[in-house]
Amino acid sequence: MKAIVLVGGEGTRLRPLTYSTPKPLLPIANQPFLERQLEWLARYDVDEVILAAGYLPDAFDEHFPEHEYAGVQLRYRVESEPLGTAGAIRFAAEGIDERILVCNGDVLTTLDLHELVAFHEKAGADATIALTRVEEPSAFGVVPTRSDGEVMAFVEKPPRGKAPTNWINAGTYVLEPSVLESVPPRLQVSIERTTFPKMLDHPGRMYAVKSDAYWLDIGTPGKYLEAHTDLLAGKVGSPPAPGAVEQAPGVWVQGEVDVHADAQLSAPVLLGAGCVLDAGAVVRGSSIGPGVRIGAGAKVLRSVVLDRAVVGPDAQLVDSVLGPDARIEPGGVVTNETVIGAGCVVTAGSLLSNARVPADG
Ligand code: GDD
Ligand code: MG
Repeated sequence: MKAIVLVGGEGTRLRPLTYSTPKPLLPIANQPFLERQLEWLARYDVDEVILAAGYLPDAFDEHFPEHEYAGVQLRYRVESEPLGTAGAIRFAAEGIDERILVCNGDVLTTLDLHELVAFHEKAGADATIALTRVEEPSAFGVVPTRSDGEVMAFVEKPPRGKAPTNWINAGTYVLEPSVLESVPPRLQVSIERTTFPKMLDHPGRMYAVKSDAYWLDIGTPGKYLEAHTDLLAGKVGSPPAPGAVEQAPGVWVQGEVDVHADAQLSAPVLLGAGCVLDAGAVVRGSSIGPGVRIGAGAKVLRSVVLDRAVVGPDAQLVDSVLGPDARIEPGGVVTNETVIGAGCVVTAGSLLSNARVPADG
């Protein structure tokens, strides 16, 4: 089966990390998110994926020079202007006249795709979408259904407190070619705001399957951190990262690392290959990228440190993300969902809380 993965968004809510890396290629527990998604698709017999790209498209080509991953053939369609979700799917599906699977490029999930396709077939639907349940649905597409699964309404991002149900669009669809016929070519169209709501004018076309499988949209700093917590807790599968070996309960290590005898590791922790922890360094509930250095007396708590970054001596990183090649100088404190962009330096003694470095815009 063929799948289209939408990877063209700018990932604005994850800036500044997404200034240099498109959201689908950001590492989650030391593995680019899209690799995890391709492995998931491969498990459900997807053998060809078309990446619907637009923002930083060359990054995908550079990351997958063989145009293949996990046995999945990769093709690219690059929009010159963002076409919106339906416009992008229509553009990517040009020349394909068969049933396709479509996925948002930022959803970490263990959803059962065989079950989704089987339901779609049995219902004789034109579109079948997966639903997941969340506590606060206002940031999503909210989808009330009848008892047989037929979709009654599709309400994208309703105001807080106005959502008719907690079941939301999980960003995974099975579509027949007929769905795309109504989408005008090369125009900006949203599948959530236009195509799906319009389909509901004709009963029997659109169904949904509720799932309690693991599901998370990684698109905000809080959710990006949560994805790491969940992976390290084993909620998405084991091991949490490729080639990771559990050296002590909940302490996962990839390759050779250099941990000083006086450094403290508190599970769950992931250490990437080649990282160095100096005397008195404390790492708790965190994911540490390859080639990272955590200085003497530094503390890294519930955080993500990306490749080759440096946490200087006596510095602290708490509930935050340190981008690749970034550095916190000695004694700097970075807390409360702060995101430090690639290569940025937090100067000695600074205190940052809920900040973006560099700032947006
Ligand atoms: N190619 C292309 N072109 N891709 C795009 C474009 C575009 O113009 N716009 C967005 N995308 C991609 C993004 O890269 C992302 O993978 C996906 O489409 C969804 O965009 P987001 O910006 O992440 O949307 P969202 O999270 O606010 O809402 C969507 O996902 C929710 C589930 O996570 C909607 O589909 C909601 O209905 C849904 O509940
Ligand atoms: Mg999203």
